[in-house]
Amino acid sequence: MQKLLNENRVVFPKDITKRPMMKRFRNELKSEVNPISTLLTEVGMNSEATKEFRNLFGATLFNYSKPISLIKTLLNQTSRNNELVMDFFAGSGAFAQAVMDLNTADGGNRKYICVQLPELTDEKSEAYKAGFNTIADISKERIRRAAKKIEGEIKEEIKRIEGEIKKLQGELPTTETKEEIENLKNKIENLQSQDVGFKVLKLEDSNFKQWQQIEGKDTKALVEQMKLFVDPVAASATIENMVYELLLKSGKNLNSRIEKKDTFYKINDHELVLLLESATKEIMEAVIAEKPLKVIALDKLFKGNDQLKTNTVLRMRDAGVEFKTI
Ligand SMILES: C[S@@+](CC[C@H](N)C(=O)[O-])C[C@H]1O[C@@H](n2cnc3c(N)ncnc32)[C@H](O)[C@@H]1O
Repeated sequence: MQKLLNENRVVFPKDITKRPMMKRFRNELKSEVNPISTLLTEVGMNSEATKEFRNLFGATLFNYSKPISLIKTLLNQTSRNNELVMDFFAGSGAFAQAVMDLNTADGGNRKYICVQLPELTDEKSEAYKAGFNTIADISKERIRRAAKKIEGEIKEEIKRIEGEIKKLQGELPTTETKEEIENLKNKIENLQSQDVGFKVLKLEDSNFKQWQQIEGKDTKALVEQMKLFVDPVAASATIENMVYELLLKSGKNLNSRIEKKDTFYKINDHELVLLLESATKEIMEAVIAEKPLKVIALDKLFKGNDQLKTNTVLRMRDAGVEFKTI
């Protein structure tokens, strides 16, 4: 203790009722977040969660919702404000609401993934009677409603800050007021850039027929298999679903930028082009003009036009583009 006192490592609070604390330097810390008590006294109880749900839906359609304040405390404790956070048991979607709330409050840019099984609601339940056939339907609707509410709150907050700026602008322009105005303007900019949108993705069968090993000498089965070379696209496939499947299979992030051009899809600007609807000489030239690193095209688009396909392969090779057909 004497050594710590000599090194000036003990801080005595001005308020003598408070405990002295040991001064620690950043490089000595095992973690940069302050530890919290295992007994959370500042967060709401489940009754608060029920109230929060009712505020959005006007009814209690979900019984195990967690309070937003609890999730926000845990998020603050366990993640930085620009990280990707996940909830594998989304339930009513309170987690998503907490993330959007926290981002709005501290200017963060957390992204979230909520996972929810399409678990059926009980036919006798209020949720079922209100038209929610699955828990996942409730999760999605809560995120929509919470996002709308937060958008309203953002608008109100921007209005309030604009009023504050006006007031400051009426005062004598000192260094402090100028700095304050600048801070407030940055806050508005951050609020305007808050993204409360979300995508829904479901686990589904592949959009492409799978190659299966044919046992024995079943020529009929083999002929059927060979047809896969002509068109491997499953009957139920849609263009949008194929875009997402190929995105994932190419190792791209689900938040990749997808830009629909007239006849093809651009992924993350120059990273990848997907050609799924038609292929002509003009389309190929338009694709090459985008200078993509890689192009994936459905083979069937060439409709047996070997000349077009050969020319495309050569043009892509000359342009340094990795070209694949499926
Ligand atoms: C208690 S709720 C989560 C409540 C949520 N934290 C909230 O505040 O609304 C748990 C959810 O996890 C889902 N679940 C349970 N077991 C699961 C599993 N093995 N895999 C995925 N989801 C599961 C259930 O569908 C249920 O809706």
